[in-house]
Amino acid sequence: MNTKNTKETIVAGIRTSGKLHIGNYLGALKNFIELSEDNTKQCYFFIADLHALTTPFEPKELSQNILDVTATYLALGLNPDKCVFFPQSQVGEHAFLSWIFNCLLPLPELERMTQYKDKAKQHKANINAGLLTYPALMAADILIYKGRAVPVGEDQVQHVELARIVARKFNNRFGQTFPEPKTYLQKPLRIMSLSDPNKKMSKTGDESLLLDDSPEEISRKLKKAVTASEPGKKSPGEENLMLLLTHFGSKEQITYFADAQNSGTLKYSELKENLARDISEYFEQFREKKQELLARPEFLAEVLAQGASKAAGAARETIFEVKQKIGLI
Ligand code: TYM
Repeated sequence: MNTKNTKETIVAGIRTSGKLHIGNYLGALKNFIELSEDNTKQCYFFIADLHALTTPFEPKELSQNILDVTATYLALGLNPDKCVFFPQSQVGEHAFLSWIFNCLLPLPELERMTQYKDKAKQHKANINAGLLTYPALMAADILIYKGRAVPVGEDQVQHVELARIVARKFNNRFGQTFPEPKTYLQKPLRIMSLSDPNKKMSKTGDESLLLDDSPEEISRKLKKAVTASEPGKKSPGEENLMLLLTHFGSKEQITYFADAQNSGTLKYSELKENLARDISEYFEQFREKKQELLARPEFLAEVLAQGASKAAGAARETIFEVKQKIGLI
C-alpha cells in the first residue's frame, strides 16, 4: 500500500527496444489495462526507456520507439486518467535510487541473473555494466513507488525476486522503508517462439507475432509455426498454439480443439487458420487506433509529460525518505 491511501500499489513497465509482441501483451499489457480499471489499485505503468539502453540502439529509433510504445499502450485501451503513465527517463529519481541499490547488492546476486547471462551471450561485443545492473534499476522502478505487486511475464520473475531481496536488505540496514514486492500473478505466463517453441517469444526475429502485424502477416507466421515433437513427447509448439487459443479463441473453439487434441485428431492447419483469424480480429481496432495516435506525436508527448509530473511527486517523497534514512541529509 502507498502511505497516503489504502490502495494496493502496482508497478510495471515495458522496454522500448523493438516492436511489442503477443507475449508482451498477454504477459504484461493486458493485465496493466485490467488493473488500471480497478479502483482498489494505484497503478504506475511506464515506458522503460532507460532499460532499452542496455542493448544496442540507435538514437533516432529509440525516440521513435518511445512514441510507438506510448501509442501501443493507449491504443490497447490504457486510460492515463486511471493510472500514472510515464517514461522512466523523465523521472530521474529512478536512476538515483538504482545507484543506492547498486551499492547494496553483492555482485554475485547480479551475476547469477539468467537474463544477464543470456544477454551477455547474445551481445558479446557489448557486455556493458548496465546489462549487469539492469535488475537494480528495475528494483528502483518498483520500490520508488513502494510497489507491492508487479504484473510481469515469467522471464521477469527472477528480477522481481531480486527487488524483494533489495527491499529486505535496505530495511534491515536502514529501518523499515520498502514493502517486499511480489509478481502480480502466482504463475506468470510464458508465450513461446513460433519458430523454436523451446524458447520464449522475444522482440527480435520472425518467430514473434507482433501486435502491429497485418492479418496476412499473422497468417503467414502461424502457417510456418513449428509443431514437430520428439518421439513420445508432447509437441511444445502445439501446446503454445493451444495456449494462444485459450486467450484469443471462443469457448466453442477451445472445446473443439481440446477434444481433437485428446482424441488425436487435431489438424494443425485448421488450428492455425482459426487462430490467425481470431488474433487478426482481436487486434483489428487496436491497429486502426494506433495509426491515428501515431499521427499525433504532440499529443503522445503531452500525455507522457503529464504522467511524468505525477510520478515525480511520489518519487521525490521516497527519495527524501531514503536520503534521510541513509544519512545523505
Ligand atoms: P520487456 O519489454 O522485455 O518485457 C515486457 C513484459 O513482457 C513480458 N514478456 C513476456 N510474457 C510472456 N511471454 C513472453 N514470451 C514474454 N516476453 C516478454 C515480460 O515478462 C515483461 O513483463 N525488465 C522489464 C521491463 C521493466 C519492468 C520494470 C517491469 C523495467 N522495469 C519494473 C516491471 C517492473 C522487461 O522485461 O521488459
